[in-house]
Amino acid sequence: MAFAIETRGVTKQYVEGEASTLALAGIDLTVSRGEVVLLMGPSGSGKTTLLSIMGCILRPTAGQVILEGHDVTAMSEKDLPAMRLKHIGFVFQGFNLFPTLSVGENVELSLSLKGVRGREAKKEAHRLLDLVGIEHKYKAFPADISGGQKQRVAIARAVAGSPVAILADEPTAALDSHTGKAVIGMMARLAHIENRAVVIVTHDGRLAEFADRIVWMEDGVLAKVPHTATDNLHLHPVEPSAETQLGI
Ligand SMILES: Nc1ncnc2c1ncn2[C@@H]1O[C@H](COP(=O)(O)OP(=O)(O)O)[C@@H](O)[C@H]1O
Ligand SMILES: [Mg+2]
Repeated sequence: MAFAIETRGVTKQYVEGEASTLALAGIDLTVSRGEVVLLMGPSGSGKTTLLSIMGCILRPTAGQVILEGHDVTAMSEKDLPAMRLKHIGFVFQGFNLFPTLSVGENVELSLSLKGVRGREAKKEAHRLLDLVGIEHKYKAFPADISGGQKQRVAIARAVAGSPVAILADEPTAALDSHTGKAVIGMMARLAHIENRAVVIVTHDGRLAEFADRIVWMEDGVLAKVPHTATDNLHLHPVEPSAETQLGI
């Protein structure tokens, strides 16, 4: 069985005129279906760059990215968007919902891009929003719901169309810590129930309890997780009802 995502010797050098930055210096990382990986490390260590390369929105300078057994680094620019659409769901810090579309329509739009339309799309959008506990807001507009609720919609949208990988770049940065924990707990539950590979970039060591594995980055390489990152935390299985109790 192939890994959901595999990077082999991935390097990235940004070149701007005379200046050049080695953002990634040989990353070997594998993520399996059903696994929640927390990607942590100081600012500027290369987390966003790595996530973007895993999500095929940025090409590595060298090395390979293998998605569900397909070497995406060998693919042409023409074939890449379809690959990305099929296999990757992104969740961003700023939610990125369409303000003029309702909650339900935001998810329906994502489904339509993946070829699910009409009545089928509505049914699936209801199911996904129910899965993230916000189906009752189907007809609400983004401006009328809270930050935690917006992030749940963004997650439902990222999960639409069954991508193998859900990649989230600091998805809790705009949320208070209770809401952030609830959202990550829900993502972890989704990963386990729906068998997705989930990679979450975060600064928040308190989210470690939801991770199956923590990966630490420093200066563009993978390093040992420092004890200070997850002080006093013990990895344990996710409580299925933790986020329902918080009622966000
Ligand atoms: N588009 C870019 N052009 C040039 N340098 C970049 C670009 N994006 C990131 N960098 C540099 O690459 C390094 C890694 O950045 P990034 O992946 O954003 O780290 P992190 O997400 O861990 O903060 C940093 O030194 C950053 O300044
Ligand atoms: Mg970043």
